[in-house]
Amino acid sequence: MPRLIIPDENGLAAAVAAWRDGDIVAFPTETVYGLGADATNAEAVARIYAAKGRPAHNPLIAHFGDRLTLEQHVEMSDLAEELAARFWPGPLTLVMNKKPESTIVDAATAGLPTVAVRLPSHPVAQQLLRQFGKPVAAPSANPSGLLTATTPKHVAQNMGDKAPLVIIGGRTPHGLESTIIDVSGVKPKLLRHGAIALEELKLVVGDLEQNTTSEMPAAPGQLLKHYAPRHPLRLNALSAEPDEAFLTFGPHLGPISGKAQRNLSEQGDLAEAAANLFMALHEFDARDDISGIAVMPIPTNGLGAAINDRLHRAAA
Ligand code: TXA
Ligand code: MG
Repeated sequence: MPRLIIPDENGLAAAVAAWRDGDIVAFPTETVYGLGADATNAEAVARIYAAKGRPAHNPLIAHFGDRLTLEQHVEMSDLAEELAARFWPGPLTLVMNKKPESTIVDAATAGLPTVAVRLPSHPVAQQLLRQFGKPVAAPSANPSGLLTATTPKHVAQNMGDKAPLVIIGGRTPHGLESTIIDVSGVKPKLLRHGAIALEELKLVVGDLEQNTTSEMPAAPGQLLKHYAPRHPLRLNALSAEPDEAFLTFGPHLGPISGKAQRNLSEQGDLAEAAANLFMALHEFDARDDISGIAVMPIPTNGLGAAINDRLHRAAA
């Protein structure tokens, strides 16, 4: 089993030392747990792909502790500046043009001329990244294609020895991956719905081209089938069968149905629902006494877009 590390002074030092040695460390961010390694070390990056079983054509996000280090690796455009000023540190990933002098290895970007970067706001992630002083490539800390990890327990259970070190940082506050915008061209493009709602982004960038669901996704990781639970998902269900688990949303109205129930948010709060989504799916998925998971309709506005995106892929 993985070694769980408390993020005190010694724990952080041990994690940073592991990164310097080219090893993998799973760590909390404000979105989900990441499986991090030195983005400038090709062997370390190869270990991430091997640990996740991730196809080599799917690039990784580079995480930074500060803007100065980040700007050594990517070209900041005016648009990137505006987004960064409003949303960094925080759950926004920007795809930018990589500087020729960047030391981020090709394996981390799948050979693309761009690199996806973000500056996490989680205090543990920030301390680690600042102490390390270099970019950390980190996909979500789950085996490729499976449910995302939002607790250290999810990481340990699903990655096992493939995540030898896991930093304990409790539940991740947003519970959904970062929103990804490509700002490498003239017009910004939304590549992945995530923890920052489209409505909020549009206040900064105006209209936004969307490329989140095509057959040839602009973010190579955005394949339709993803976030897959063991049990089948049935969407837009108004009630559950007796042997199904029921994932509900909003104040409870009708009769209770299904073998087990979880409400994503009794108040109908989409941020609360987002934070609970993968928790609930993991919990249901661990049960052997259900035949599937029925999911109530979730509104599509605000963070509902990202929640519905994850649910559709999980059901695909
Ligand atoms: O919240 C998050 O973003 C988490 C935490 C750990 O930071 N990370 C995460 O990483 O979700 P991952 O690897 O599960 O998803 C990254 C997505 C993939 O769909 C990948 O294809 C896309 O970002 N991506 C990475 N680099 C890209 C690039 N240069 N151009 C387009 N898409 C890129
Ligand atoms: Mg992922």
